[in-house]
Amino acid sequence: MKYNRVKNAGYAIEDSKYVIKNPELFKGKWKDVFNNDRPIMLELGSGRGSFIIKMALAHPNLNFIGLELDMNQIGYAAQSLISNQLTNLRFIHADARDLGEIFFKEINTIYLTFSEPWPKKQDERKRFTHESYLRLYDRVFKKDKHIILKTDNKILFSSALESLSQYWYSFNRVSMDLHNDERKIENIVTDFEKQYIKEHRQIYYLDAVYKN
Ligand SMILES: C[S@@+](CC[C@H](N)C(=O)[O-])C[C@H]1O[C@@H](n2cnc3c(N)ncnc32)[C@H](O)[C@@H]1O
Repeated sequence: MKYNRVKNAGYAIEDSKYVIKNPELFKGKWKDVFNNDRPIMLELGSGRGSFIIKMALAHPNLNFIGLELDMNQIGYAAQSLISNQLTNLRFIHADARDLGEIFFKEINTIYLTFSEPWPKKQDERKRFTHESYLRLYDRVFKKDKHIILKTDNKILFSSALESLSQYWYSFNRVSMDLHNDERKIENIVTDFEKQYIKEHRQIYYLDAVYKN
């Protein structure tokens, strides 16, 4: 699935109160951005924000941040929020590789929803669950580490299970077929997931923790 270009994405970002410019200035101080000490939940690769916006609406007592590399997608999210007054949501235009410049010991949960799968062996370092990313997350998690991942890609999923277990995470929940799982698992459907539902694709899910 490909997104179309968004007209004036740059202006939408510039004018939006939801998009934090120079996010590295808030490293270690994100509670000041939200004006409270509530848990901060971060989505890496938030696309047009369909997941994180719905999460922020559903959980007003938690804070949410969508981090996205593509300015066009952030512009779309900013435009879609123009008439909203959400105080618990922000977006950052950044590369996930720079997480350590933006946060320090202040994130409660990281969501990896339909991240790029990078299925080829030579690209495995780019997967958001590669050990190098898990080490990076250690610098930004507040105390316990908590990762929730959804994907339609079996290679990404099995490599995530392997690298998280090798890094001593344990699993609260694993589902090999989220949409047909008999257990009640909170699921907010993302843009990409909507498309996969139409195509009857299986969705893999995991909720992993490391308690410090
Ligand atoms: C397949 S889309 C999923 C979007 C959204 N999570 C969803 O489920 O609808 C993956 C997103 O990750 C973003 N992305 C890829 N690499 C990234 C990186 N290194 N840092 C931040 N975002 C990245 C892409 O630009 C794209 O918007």
